[in-house]
Amino acid sequence: MSEDTPVGATDGPEMTGTYQKCGTFLNESAGAHARQLMPVLDKYEVDGAEVGDRLPPNRALNPCRFPSDARPTQVVRMNLDDGLSDDLARQLRCQGMIQESFAAASIGSYFPLSTMFENCVLFIPSAKRFYDLNQDVVHEHMPEVETTVVNAFVVRAGKRSYGTHSASGIALQIPSLVKKRLGFPTRYRSFHTALTPTPLDRQPFVIFEEAEVEAPNLQYVYEQMLEYGLDKEEKASVDKALFLFLEGKLSEIDLPTVRDFLMAKYWEKRYADTPSPGYYCDSRVGDALVFDNYRAHGDSTMPPSEQDRLTIDFRCFNRVHYPRGMSSGLDFIVDPAERAHQISRKRASLEFLLATLGYQSLDEFLQMVFGRNAEDINPFELMTDLQFGVYNKSKYHLLDQNLDDHYERVENLYSEIERTGEYVLPERAKACLKVLAG
Ligand SMILES: [Fe+2]
Repeated sequence: MSEDTPVGATDGPEMTGTYQKCGTFLNESAGAHARQLMPVLDKYEVDGAEVGDRLPPNRALNPCRFPSDARPTQVVRMNLDDGLSDDLARQLRCQGMIQESFAAASIGSYFPLSTMFENCVLFIPSAKRFYDLNQDVVHEHMPEVETTVVNAFVVRAGKRSYGTHSASGIALQIPSLVKKRLGFPTRYRSFHTALTPTPLDRQPFVIFEEAEVEAPNLQYVYEQMLEYGLDKEEKASVDKALFLFLEGKLSEIDLPTVRDFLMAKYWEKRYADTPSPGYYCDSRVGDALVFDNYRAHGDSTMPPSEQDRLTIDFRCFNRVHYPRGMSSGLDFIVDPAERAHQISRKRASLEFLLATLGYQSLDEFLQMVFGRNAEDINPFELMTDLQFGVYNKSKYHLLDQNLDDHYERVENLYSEIERTGEYVLPERAKACLKVLAG
């Protein structure tokens, strides 16, 4: 196998052992995912007449679509430390115990407090180490990169991975912004790196390489689905989903789920008569699939594996431009009180996450890293935030800081967790949770 082989560019024999069809098809995998997500709609009651009034033919929609001129997926060799996957597996286990200690707590279902994604930098020392080791590789394969974030995660033995989806963002829903290419990354690549081998029987990561790479808004996918044809039940669920979305009735947690539901339904219909095969790579540890995140990927129909699948993933964006006078998606919130509220919630969520790691305050952490207090730094500048369309890194981007002192504390805590076999949520973290719930 050769490095950096563009998929589909040649049909050499080397290709067949590495990147090949896995036997699934986009319409079927997406259809299965749509069925898995559909129960989210049951959480909401709607008035049938109101739904009808808001949708065609009674009201016109405002469709738009960003066609990404994606490059083919490539296989790239990443730099790994000896033992990185062991370290990561250990850190992910501890981080998982922390997450489980409060996931059941009553914080209301509206506030996503994840120890993963952007917040991974706080909990996974090896993720930052991997980031530092691979900056050159990222720049070589994506010279236009501006911001990189890293996430590490595990698909547990016996569990299925998340179903078929693709990147999206708040600005991609708004035709005037899409037309001007404002508010979202026009280049968005992932470096999806295997830390455990991924033969076909270990539920490998799946990419639908031949499907069109596009980021349509939900009004566009709705209109297309009407043309492809929906039965009565499908029409009712799709109507309800779009209505809830357009009317702003969805909670922060449910919004991405409903969006993914509509996208999955769209692919199910669009590719029903032109099946688009899924591809996987039989990766060695350290092989990354470098792919355009606007491409449909992920497949929950692959049979679960008997072993954990460990992955570390970079998401890389080019520089995102915003409308005049704006510097991030946060500026789309025009009401100053609402904006202040979101900033204070972000601060409170960081305060909580750091409390789970034993910090007495956000100030304690920020003093350690920057010699500054929380009031000096907008918390949205510490990390990107895809929910609010914060893509460009600031000078406070945590991944670019020296976090050695922080990680020493994290490692001490994790040693303690491993020694005792348990993690107890600190009192201060419980108090923070109460504040978030209030
Ligand atoms: Fe993804």
